[in-house]
Amino acid sequence: MCGIVAYIGPREAYPIILKGLKRLEYRGYDSAGIALLNGGLKVYKKKGKVADLEETLQGIDLHANIGIGHTRWATHGEPNDRNAHPHTSASGKLAMIHNGIIENYNQLKQELLNKGYKFTSDTDTEVLLNFIEEIQTQNNCPLEEAVRIALKRIVGAYVIVLIEKDHPDTLIAARKGSPLVIGIGKNEHFLASDASPIIEYTKEVVYVNDYEVAIIKPDELILKNLGNERQTPYITKLDMELAAIEKGGYDHFMLKEIFEQPQTVYDCLRGRLDAQAGTITMSGIQKYAEQIMNAKRIVMVACGTSWHAGLVAEYIFEELCRINVEVEYASEFRYRNPVINKGDVIIAISQSGETADTLVAIENAKSKGAIILGVVNVVGSSIARISDAGAYTHAGPEIGVASTKAFTAQLAVLTMIALKIGHDKGVLDHDRYMHLLNELDAIPAKIEKVLNLNDHIKALAEKYSDATSSLYLGRGYNFPVALEGALKLKEISYIHAEGYPAAEMKHGPIALVDDQLPVIFVATRDSYHEKVMSNMQEIKARKGKVIAVINEGDEQSAALADDTIMIPEADEIVAPMLSVIPLQLLAYYIGLHKGLDVDKPRNLAKSVTVE
Ligand code: M6R
Repeated sequence: MCGIVAYIGPREAYPIILKGLKRLEYRGYDSAGIALLNGGLKVYKKKGKVADLEETLQGIDLHANIGIGHTRWATHGEPNDRNAHPHTSASGKLAMIHNGIIENYNQLKQELLNKGYKFTSDTDTEVLLNFIEEIQTQNNCPLEEAVRIALKRIVGAYVIVLIEKDHPDTLIAARKGSPLVIGIGKNEHFLASDASPIIEYTKEVVYVNDYEVAIIKPDELILKNLGNERQTPYITKLDMELAAIEKGGYDHFMLKEIFEQPQTVYDCLRGRLDAQAGTITMSGIQKYAEQIMNAKRIVMVACGTSWHAGLVAEYIFEELCRINVEVEYASEFRYRNPVINKGDVIIAISQSGETADTLVAIENAKSKGAIILGVVNVVGSSIARISDAGAYTHAGPEIGVASTKAFTAQLAVLTMIALKIGHDKGVLDHDRYMHLLNELDAIPAKIEKVLNLNDHIKALAEKYSDATSSLYLGRGYNFPVALEGALKLKEISYIHAEGYPAAEMKHGPIALVDDQLPVIFVATRDSYHEKVMSNMQEIKARKGKVIAVINEGDEQSAALADDTIMIPEADEIVAPMLSVIPLQLLAYYIGLHKGLDVDKPRNLAKSVTVE
């Protein structure tokens, strides 16, 4: 939530910051703003998207070699010009951008009000900024020191970046809980919430750690902890190309990312799965393989789409490894005082690797002796770094707010881990193991075939885009796929959608069914197929409109449906990687047909770094 960008060096800061904000807009797009230092401190901010800010700045002299920029996902105070970042301090000497939430801001605000401070916004950010200024004034100390003192009193999560009118050669930044990357150039530094605004300038980056303060000049980067001790910046080389974060000829990132799936799943399997040799190599988890095999239970912790991947994995792990699996919403798990025994294995699943609830949930579990495995997409992200071990999903940057390619890559990684553990543990029959390796190996080519149905799915989307509500039903491995299909439709088209286990529908949701209600069945051939067909009959008997995702040649199911999407057959363990794709396309085209911003749906943000 919220994107931050900053620059210091010999180049013009404004174009770098503006471009960076556009790349980070997926993190929030309620308002945008920039502060530049050139003689004086100039702050420009506006409700709406970065393009709206850019338009209002046409013709203004924006020359400066130091600046900070922000794109906001509102937490405290409604999205308007007043609450937009950067904020300026009471004296007008400091400007600050912030990503995160200051939980004790009310108490600090009261203290400042008692001292006569006045506030021009409703934000927690302005409170923190004035708190820093107050400390600087009282102690007559450098900004860096005031920041360190202030942060010791802060409860919450933050990345902050400050500039000071009288010190145009220095940026001060700090982090706890939210991400901050610093790009190292030649006599210049780039700061951002992720590496996307940085990669076209440098591939050398430093990921700032929690409770570190950075003092950044064009030719110098100093990191200190809150106790004023110097920390050594650890320089990492980015393994990412610029093309990966551009639309590459597609109208939207979401469509591009859906179409990338044959490649992303392939990339995820590459170097790990060797179907011919019958091996799976997961070097990231090897060290803990024994403990996973002997674990009494595995807990999957995640949010949103990643939670759905966890649900599919629950079925897979229990079937292939015979280990008890629980799947938890991270936001519930972190507050529930869950029973965690030493040796429990927690698998944190996250595309961004920055989701606040997932991060805190695993921190808590780790402190109680659990082993943490991360199944994460963003390399170097907080969840990846705090995990004891794990496997990256290698799906490349996912920029569309709706998660698509990350989901199939998560399924690929989780299936490989389950296959490896089940096989090494000796509970998975060798022939079945070999069969599943081949099934997994064949998935990228089969995804390609599903994508060939694009035009057919687009036509269906147009047919059903007037619906005001819909039901998604599936059983077994396809039940979480139904949940995921419903989530995609909700977020992209704003049509109410419910996902349900197909049999559970009889216990309530069937009351919704009439001749207007589209009911999307995920009904590929698996051990539940006959039962799902009965459920389809039950919907048909009540005149619901059945749209069925079924296997090629399944004429029996086709006869029960108003419309069908026929996909290649696959073993039920790997089938979700295929059956989810028509649902992603359906949501995309319905949103598009309704004229909505599919890459940036209202009220959402890609990376949920607040709880
Ligand atoms: O980055 P994460 O995978 O941890 O994010 C979890 C959810 O916020 C995310 O999946 C969200 O539900 C997406 N908008 C779904 O499309």
